[in-house]
Amino acid sequence: MELSTATHVHPSEPKVSEDEELRAARRRLLNPTSAEFLQDPYATYALLRERQPLCYRPRSNAWVATRYEDAQAVLRDPCFGRDPEPTFEAIHGPGINDEPVVRNFNRMMIVRNDPDHSRLRKLVNASFNARRVLSLKAAIARIANELVDRLPASGEVDLMVDFARPLPVTVICELLGIPEADRQRFIDRRVVSERIFVPVPLTPEELAEENRRFLELRDYFLSLCAERRRAPREDLISDLVAAKERGELDEEELIAMIAVIFNAGHDTTVNLIGNGLLALHRHPEQLALLRARPDLMPSAVDELLRYDSSVQTSDRRALESVELGGQRIEKGQLVVCVLGAANRDPEVYPDPDRLDITRSGTKPVAFGGGIHFCLGAQLARIEGQIALGALLSRLPDISLPELERPEWSPSVFLRGLETLPARYQRRLDSGFDVAATARPTGAATKATARCPFH
Ligand code: HEM
Repeated sequence: MELSTATHVHPSEPKVSEDEELRAARRRLLNPTSAEFLQDPYATYALLRERQPLCYRPRSNAWVATRYEDAQAVLRDPCFGRDPEPTFEAIHGPGINDEPVVRNFNRMMIVRNDPDHSRLRKLVNASFNARRVLSLKAAIARIANELVDRLPASGEVDLMVDFARPLPVTVICELLGIPEADRQRFIDRRVVSERIFVPVPLTPEELAEENRRFLELRDYFLSLCAERRRAPREDLISDLVAAKERGELDEEELIAMIAVIFNAGHDTTVNLIGNGLLALHRHPEQLALLRARPDLMPSAVDELLRYDSSVQTSDRRALESVELGGQRIEKGQLVVCVLGAANRDPEVYPDPDRLDITRSGTKPVAFGGGIHFCLGAQLARIEGQIALGALLSRLPDISLPELERPEWSPSVFLRGLETLPARYQRRLDSGFDVAATARPTGAATKATARCPFH
């Protein structure tokens, strides 16, 4: 997400002739208030990728990269790293990094550079490797089946509320060890807002509310940690508490780790399910093929992650001046990698705007790259495969009334639907064969799901 608001005109700003079409695309780009952009960001991405693949934005002193090659290069190159503090200060003013909600974010592994990043990542890698994730298949299928069992026998439901959201929240709660009795509040609403990332200064009231929400969550996690310290269980919070006792992370890092795994572990996957269902129903021939051939589910989910992924951007700051795609990026500048645009780059994916669930070797950049490659990539894939498999096999005649103009959330970072109304006539009592549907794909299919670029 582009955060910086520093005003600075870069001397090597590319001299391109800008017609109205290009200017309009630049205005729409990553603009959450543009309904046109939210409905279809891909037309804007395509124009920029073709005409200005590295687009400089003087107001935020940031580059926007829309080509696959440039995005991958930035994510993998150690000349680029994470450094959110100056950005928060530029948006919200001095002292913002000392506020509890921002301080917690700045302690998360996702925004740390090495060696701290490696130290933290090592603590959780094993819990998300392919073997561990495969061992969860039956439990995830049970959760998916139970959610379908709870749907009415026929009628109209909101698939975001009744299925796409509760499934990943329940799975990540199981993994972390959040007790069943406490889960409903996490299913009902998002506990952490994205407000601190929006490049508009927080009002004192908003800041107080963000802090209040974070501190409430922190207190809840701290009390759970205290329980697990007294009586450890087979769960991730117990493992992290033990690591803290061994001095491998401090208390703030412990809470930040639980928070990043909790948040990253569900919002993204909720939207994989929602966006995936929408894309399949917009392409009835692909949907029919998948219903007929559930063995195609693993490649279908990879293609859906490429076609309309939930995480659209990932940014890095140049830790030193560096060349990228023929441009000089100055030390301290941000580069916003538009993963959604990279995933539709015709240099890598022939006919990129076509959804093709039989596409082979897709390797979407949806899970990022380099040292921050998604910790939960295998889990997300398996969850997506099981969720779509269970729903399509047990609701054989779903239709989506708002197929043409669905309601997208006003975020350019996380792409997802607010609601997904669906109608069906029949809910089958059984019929989902998890063994025929779900298996790991991608680079990390062997014994480990560690970042292939480490
Ligand atoms: C479809 C679902 C998902 C998508 C599209 C997705 C996408 C991503 C992306 C793009 C990144 C890199 C961010 C960056 O470099 O700026 C990332 C990192 C991360 N993801 Fe996911 N993710 C998904 C599901 C999950 C799940 C289920 C978990 C559960 C643990 C998870 C946990 C994480 C964590 C902890 C990181 C930070 C890794 C690090 O800094 O080393 N994600 N994810």
